Amino acid sequence: MKVKDEEQRTKSRFRREVAAIAVMSSVLSMLLQAMSLLPVAMMPPVIDTYIPSGETGKVIFAILAFCGIPVLVTFGYNWYQYFLMLQSRRLIARVNLECFDKLIHQPMAFFDENHSAELARKASDDMVSYIAVWTIDLPRLLSGAASGILVFVLLCRIHILAALFQLLYIPVSIGLMKLVGNRLQQLIARVVDFNARYQKQMQEAFRSIRLVKAGVMEEQEDRKVEEIQGSVLKIWGKVAFFDNFVGGISNTLMPGFFYGATFILAALLAATQAITIGSMTAAVGYASRIHDIFTSLIATYNGYQKARGQVAAIQGYLELEDERDREGQGRWRFEQEILFEDVSFRYPHTQKDILKHKSLKIRQGDWVGITGASGIGKSTILELLLRFYDVDEGCIRVDGQPLGDISLYDLRRSVSYVPQEPVLRQGTIRDNLLLVKPDATQAQLIDAAERTGILREIQGGLDREIGEQGMALSGGERQRIAIARCLLEDTKVILLDEATSQMDKATQDAMAELLHREQKARGATVISVAHRLEFNRFADETIRME
Ligand SMILES: Nc1ncnc2c1ncn2[C@@H]1O[C@H](COP(=O)(O)OP(=O)(O)OP(=O)(O)O)[C@@H](O)[C@H]1O
Ligand SMILES: [Mg+2]
Repeated sequence: MKVKDEEQRTKSRFRREVAAIAVMSSVLSMLLQAMSLLPVAMMPPVIDTYIPSGETGKVIFAILAFCGIPVLVTFGYNWYQYFLMLQSRRLIARVNLECFDKLIHQPMAFFDENHSAELARKASDDMVSYIAVWTIDLPRLLSGAASGILVFVLLCRIHILAALFQLLYIPVSIGLMKLVGNRLQQLIARVVDFNARYQKQMQEAFRSIRLVKAGVMEEQEDRKVEEIQGSVLKIWGKVAFFDNFVGGISNTLMPGFFYGATFILAALLAATQAITIGSMTAAVGYASRIHDIFTSLIATYNGYQKARGQVAAIQGYLELEDERDREGQGRWRFEQEILFEDVSFRYPHTQKDILKHKSLKIRQGDWVGITGASGIGKSTILELLLRFYDVDEGCIRVDGQPLGDISLYDLRRSVSYVPQEPVLRQGTIRDNLLLVKPDATQAQLIDAAERTGILREIQGGLDREIGEQGMALSGGERQRIAIARCLLEDTKVILLDEATSQMDKATQDAMAELLHREQKARGATVISVAHRLEFNRFADETIRME
């Protein structure tokens, strides 16, 4: 399982890199936190000992440290941010790619269920928070907790009561985090969903622009987009409410109470001479640090929950199995026949059997025509042969070898497929031909295009722009590009699904002759679905589906 091993390696390398950045980030952040604590820790000896005993050298050193440490921390922090940003961007690109790779290797049933615009939006837009959870939020959480413990120990050394009092932060913070954490996660997951729907709605409107304009449906489309916007705004309103609710309590109420109470407690302890004035000053300083730590802990936790909501879809995608997981290892060998043995099939998540105990035989080198009523399952036969779907019962064999045992790459590389709707992309005719054979020479491209007659028909030659989905061409021209691709691919099996249905009779005849010549020259097998029997007049056999 070469492909699988490769994938496994990529995955573990990716995880290792995330972990390495997370660890480095935690250490750096803790170091910076510890350094920023030094000035406070130096207060007691400076106030209580050095100044009263007139140790000028030490006092000057302390003043230098007071000024120098914030400078160092600031530079250190800047560098740390720069480092994180670079590493995160690199990782985001990697996750992006991994997610796209997962999606593009999903079986066809996945694409029947998911909209392309939603997939694209979810798979690309939300990576930042996914990486930030690991590289920024979690390290910050860890270093926050570690420096919290350190400050607590330092406070214990001043007076246990002042330290224990700070423990009250724990239940208050946990309460606050519990109150809103889950809700934020769910709300953001819904925002992600709605954003994807928003994208889908717009793409659908633009894709069907001819229908929209002909039906004067512009306002109707505006309203659909507005409706989704309204739902998203409502959710953001809730997010803002919870954010501000927590922010208000943790930034205003909590310091008001804890900071003031610690000051009074420390002052009482100093008044009863349980601690010195220097220690009292330090205790108040530590209390403010503890407050900062808990505020950032709460903010980080909420950010973490929001990020979890945001990455739920991506995480789901990354965990999907893909076509490669059920891939056969056998080579494609087709010298005798393809057999459909008692095949039954229904599309995933549907109730209707499309094929019921169907048996077919296709001999190598034959032109096999398939006809039958609309919706009977002709295209389905071709899709099963390409293993876009797996049969439910029975078996498809190629020279005796079950289709499922053949490597998907090998199988699909051995077959040319002209689908019922030509699949064209924005760009030139050249771009569209090069998709199936990126290393084709100019001569090969011109030859393939010329033989279908498309170059005679249109202006601009191979460099003619064909518009999104080839919509700047006629239906018949689009089909000719699809046939030109098939000529370029030079395989020994050609699947044609209504390949000339949008052409006039003369052109259709010319295409049938062209493909027949090509079949004979290559010694290829043609399986051709067509309503019009004339197109299959070269057929050695015609299967009528009932
Ligand atoms: N991806 C799919 N998911 C669910 N049902 C599908 C899917 N594709 C096709 N079908 C259904 O399967 C049946 C057979 O479809 P198929 O495309 O094979 O028909 P066909 O014989 O090629 O028809 P036509 O001559 O109109 O092209 C139809 O009822 C169709 O609605
Ligand atoms: Mg069809």
